[in-house]
Amino acid sequence: MLQVGKTYDPLLKRPFCIFKREGNVIQFVYRIRGKGTRLLSNCKKGDIIQAIGPLGNSYPAPKKDFIAVAGGIGIASLFPLLERFKNKAFLFYGARTKNELVMINKAKSLAKKIFTTTDDGSIGQKGLITDVLNDFLENRTMPVYAGGPMPMLQKVSDIVAGRGIECYASLEEHMACGVGACLGCVVKTVSGYKRVCKEGPVFPIEEIVW
Ligand SMILES: Cc1cc2nc3c(=O)[nH]c(=O)nc-3n(C[C@H](O)[C@H](O)[C@H](O)COP(=O)(O)OP(=O)(O)OC[C@H]3O[C@@H](n4cnc5c(N)ncnc54)[C@H](O)[C@@H]3O)c2cc1C
Ligand code: FES
Repeated sequence: MLQVGKTYDPLLKRPFCIFKREGNVIQFVYRIRGKGTRLLSNCKKGDIIQAIGPLGNSYPAPKKDFIAVAGGIGIASLFPLLERFKNKAFLFYGARTKNELVMINKAKSLAKKIFTTTDDGSIGQKGLITDVLNDFLENRTMPVYAGGPMPMLQKVSDIVAGRGIECYASLEEHMACGVGACLGCVVKTVSGYKRVCKEGPVFPIEEIVW
């Protein structure tokens, strides 16, 4: 959870994935979405921001080749996995437009094979990445790791349902405290409500009630 501004507006820290950690340097990659991320983007070298973390869980390590499905900035959650398990991932990476396929060349160099789509066809196949995934998964049962917007994750859930495919999703919920105290981030699961910040953000996808 990163403090995004120097004042009490916005009051709440914002959640981000740890994109990379090397020695005592931690990197984040983020998309400017609203007020908080815009303020964050104004930070200058040498500025100090408060952070709480690391918080929550992470994807379980894949034991063999796997599928990574990223929607836009959802790639941030998958990068550590791609780096740790180089050339093991079939990466399905979709975004609205070319500019939103961030770090595409780096992603290419880490994946065994990459499939890209954009909504506007500006790069890769035109359409939804989940459609390409659906075709690829025919007769395959590799584990799937997904990070991206909730509608994409729900689509992935529909695709893997009933196929005996192990699948994990990193959920993007609004967060307030980030440490399990406020219940502001709960999602409905088959075993009751769970906190995305504490029990997640990664859940076996079949546990989520969409
Ligand atoms: C576990 C986790 C990890 C994340 N990792 C990253 C990351 O690595 N990089 C990155 O760019 N973003 C990440 N996000 C999303 C990021 O936290 C939000 O984009 C950010 O909080 C938006 O803050 P803001 O003040 O700019 O936008 P706001 O002004 O708060 O909101 C702008 C718009 O974005 C929507 N929005 C805000 N937060 C979320 C959210 N969490 N889920 C869905 N919609 C939201 C709002 O409804 C509104 O429409 C992550 C979210 C979670 C929960
Ligand atoms: S953000 Fe407060 S419990 Fe999750």
